[in-house]
Amino acid sequence: MKHIRKVVIPVAGWGTRSLPATKNIPKEMLPIYNKPVIQYVVEEAQRADISDVIFVTNRDKNVIEDHFDHNLQLEDVLQRAGKLDKLREVQEVAEMVNILSVRQKRQLGLGHAVMCARKLVGDEPFAVMVGDDLMFSGVPGIGQLIEVAMAEKMPVIGVMEVPWDKVSRYGIIDGEEVAPGVYRVRDMVEKPKREDAPSRLAIVGRYILTPDIFDYLEKVTPGHGGEIQLTDALQAMAKERGMMAVRMAGMRFDAGDWAEFLSANIYFALQDESLRYELLGLLKNFVQFK
Ligand code: UTP
Repeated sequence: MKHIRKVVIPVAGWGTRSLPATKNIPKEMLPIYNKPVIQYVVEEAQRADISDVIFVTNRDKNVIEDHFDHNLQLEDVLQRAGKLDKLREVQEVAEMVNILSVRQKRQLGLGHAVMCARKLVGDEPFAVMVGDDLMFSGVPGIGQLIEVAMAEKMPVIGVMEVPWDKVSRYGIIDGEEVAPGVYRVRDMVEKPKREDAPSRLAIVGRYILTPDIFDYLEKVTPGHGGEIQLTDALQAMAKERGMMAVRMAGMRFDAGDWAEFLSANIYFALQDESLRYELLGLLKNFVQFK
């Protein structure tokens, strides 16, 4: 399998769970401590040596592309004010990766969003990273999948163990463990009832796919609201062509879920020595009022 150069990051959803915060600001631009959600996702891709990011966007999401471009006026202000650390920080974000984008003109689901990137992906294996799913680990999350995809020459999806009472929120795989944490996928079910779930290995927002996924997506029958589910195409692909899953190491936060979004903020703020003790003091006050 060829080196993975490109990642598709769908960011065209409405973010309804995060309203009213997301009425005019994309969910992917909400801050986790001092960076927008999407910057953590792109940093993960960059750490895995992915150079080209393809955003699947909509008419209200230009600000996401702008974040990864130079803001020359701001850079000039920072330069003249002698704020050279900040200047370097904003310049680094602009230089991080090459940005391409394509519009998803109607929000018809994650599978449809991936399909919109078909022309830009071309004929090479590629990564997909969901734009509101945050992963933190020593080896970057998407890099863990690339290692297995290269070794097995097969598409690979990221999974994590979730508690049994949460399986109905996820796509769940049925797989055979062929090496520690590496599975050959036999089947998958979308949002099963607890008693019907074949495991508690949930599909999280990281994938290494081959271009034939687009043919499988073409064949997916649209479900509720005309949505084209990525899981339906993955299921067909797993059965016909074969697919691996990797139990990902590290922490994960779904930025579209308020409890996880807020805990990610606290987690990152606590990593900053200059803020940690003041923040802990304030949090202690809150906890006493419970
Ligand atoms: P989600 O289902 O978490 O996002 O999709 P959403 O639809 O924006 O949010 P809610 O559920 O209404 O709160 C996961 C990712 O896929 C993108 C979203 O932007 C998000 O980053 N997405 C989803 C698309 O790009 N297009 C779609 O049609 C749906």
